[in-house]
Amino acid sequence: MQVSNRKFDVVVVGAGGSGMRCALQLARAGLDVAVLSKVFPTRSHTVAAQGGIGASLGNMSEDNWYWHMFDTVKGSDYLGDQDAIEFMCREAPSVAYELEHMGMPFDRNPDGTIYQRPFGGHTANFGEKPVQRACAAADRTGHALLHTMYQQNVEARTHFFVEWMALDLIRDAEGDVLGVVALEMETGDVTIFEAKTTVLATGGAGRIFAASTNAFINTGDGLGMAARAGIPLQDMEFWQFHPTGVAGAGVLITEGVRGEGGILLNSNGERFMERYAPTYKDLAPRDFVSRSMDQEIKEGRGCGPRKDHVLLKLDHLGAETIMKRLPSIREIAIRFANVDPIKEPIPVVPTIHYQMGGVPTNIHSQVVMPTAGDPAKVVNGLYAIGECSCVSVHGANRLGTNSLLDLMVFGRSAGNHIVASKLHERAHKPLPKDAADRPLARLAQLDASTSGEGSHVVADAIRATMQSHCGVFRTDAAMAEGVKAIHDIAGAVERIHLKDKSRIFNVARIEALEVDNLIETAKATMVSAEARKESRGAHFHNDHTARDDANWMKHTLWWRDGSTLTYKDVHLKALTVEPFKPKARTF
Ligand code: FUM
Repeated sequence: MQVSNRKFDVVVVGAGGSGMRCALQLARAGLDVAVLSKVFPTRSHTVAAQGGIGASLGNMSEDNWYWHMFDTVKGSDYLGDQDAIEFMCREAPSVAYELEHMGMPFDRNPDGTIYQRPFGGHTANFGEKPVQRACAAADRTGHALLHTMYQQNVEARTHFFVEWMALDLIRDAEGDVLGVVALEMETGDVTIFEAKTTVLATGGAGRIFAASTNAFINTGDGLGMAARAGIPLQDMEFWQFHPTGVAGAGVLITEGVRGEGGILLNSNGERFMERYAPTYKDLAPRDFVSRSMDQEIKEGRGCGPRKDHVLLKLDHLGAETIMKRLPSIREIAIRFANVDPIKEPIPVVPTIHYQMGGVPTNIHSQVVMPTAGDPAKVVNGLYAIGECSCVSVHGANRLGTNSLLDLMVFGRSAGNHIVASKLHERAHKPLPKDAADRPLARLAQLDASTSGEGSHVVADAIRATMQSHCGVFRTDAAMAEGVKAIHDIAGAVERIHLKDKSRIFNVARIEALEVDNLIETAKATMVSAEARKESRGAHFHNDHTARDDANWMKHTLWWRDGSTLTYKDVHLKALTVEPFKPKARTF
C-alpha cells in the first residue's frame, strides 16, 4: 500500500474539549497544528456533557478554590495527586471566565453573572453544606463548550482532518515520539503525520462495557496506541458508574437533575439516599450513590416488573424549571424511557460513564514512563490530555463537572507548555524505516483474513465480559475469571475476519481497528482491578471492603508486554497549600 507523508509542528489526536483547547493555544501562537478526528469535531463526545463545568466563582454563595480542592481530594478517595488537583482547582475560575469571554452561552443569574447549580460532592467550608459550583448552559454545557471551541479554532486556522483515525504512534530508537500513522476513513488510504510534538486527546473508552453513557466512538484509541508503543496505562481499575443512566438505554440523565432538586426513590417510594448519606443525600459522590442504588435493587427494593432499576423523580420541580434548566433531559426521557418527567419519574440505573485512569502524565501533561530507576521519565514529543490521560486529578473517583474542567485546564496548560518548550523551532527528527510497519501489517492481515469472528462479535464478547466481571461490586472469583476470559478474547481479536474487504468507508475495517484498542483497555482494566485487594472510590471489592492505605495508597501501572503491573507513589504534597490527610469518607 502506498503511504503518503505530511509534516506539522504538532499533531493532536482527537477533537473533543481538551484536544481543541490545546490546538487553540498552539494555533494562536502561530504553530502549524493538525487535529485528527474520527468524527466532525462538534460530534466529539464532549458534546454529551450535560450538567456543568466546576469552578469556584462564588456567584450563588461564598466559595473558594481550596474548598473545591478539598472536595476533589476527598471525592478521589485520596488517590488523586494533590499538586495536580491544586493546579486544576486554582485555574478553574480563569478557564470559566475565558469561556464566557469566548462567547460560550452560559445560563445567567438576574444580575448577569454565570448561573451555577449544585452537583454531587461539591461543598462549602470543607464538607459543611452543598455549594453551587457547576457553571451551566442549561443541560447542554458540553454542547455549548464544544461549539465555542470549534469556532475559536476555525478563527485561529487550526487544520482539521475530519474522519481520520490515528492507528499507531511512531517512536524512534531513542523512544522519542515523532508523530502518528493514520487512516483516512473515506478512502482507506494511510498517511504518516510527522510531528515535533504529538498530543493524545482521544477521550474515554467506555465502550469496553455493554451498558455505557459513552458514544460509540469511545473505543480507547489513545490507550491502545500508547500501550502498543510500550507506554503503561495508569489506574485502569477505576471506572465510574454514573448513577442515572436511563434503564435499558444507558443514555445519560445529568446529575444536574438532582442538583436542581430531583430525588431518587425505591419501590416503597422512599428517598433512600437519606439513609445512606444523611448530609449529602442524593448529592453524595457518584461511586457512593451508585452503590447505594445497587444495594436497594439487590435487597428487593428495585422498581418495575423486574425490580431492576430505581426512579428519579423531578415532577415537583415544576414544568417551568424543567423546561428552562433541563430541556434536553425531558426530551431524552420522552424518547428513551417513554415518560414525560414533568408528570412521571424516570427509570434509572448506574451506568458506565468515565475512566479515571489513562496514559500517565506529569502536571505539564507530558507522558511519563515511570520505572524504578526513573519515576518521572518523560516520553519526548508526547503529551496526553483529557479522559485518555491520567494526571491524576480524579484519583479513584471523579466529581461531576470536574471532567469539563480537566479538559479546559490541562488542554490550555499543555498548549502553553508545548509553545514554551520551543520544540517546534527544531527540525523534524528522521523517521525510523519501520515507522508504518505495524499498522500496515495489521491492515494487510485484515485484508487476508479468511476465517475467524466478525469484529462486532469480538467487541460484544469484550463488553459482556467487562460488564459481568468488573461491575459496581467486584469479587476475587469474578475478576480472576474475567482476567482469563479477556486474555482468551485477545486471541480472537488477532483472528478477526473481515467479510467485506472494500476500503471505501468500510465500517467493518474501522470497527476491527477499534477492537484492537478496546482489548488493550479491557486487559489493563481487568488485570489492574483483579490485583487491587481493597475498596477505594469506584473500585468496590466485596472480599476486601475497606480502604487499605497502608498497602494500597499507590497508583497502578499496567504494561502490555506480559500484561504485568508495577506501582508508583501518590503525590500527597500540594503545590503551595497544606495538603489534605487521608480520612474515612463519610457523607
Ligand atoms: O451528570 C452530568 O451532567 C455529567 C457530568 C460529568 O460527568 O461531569
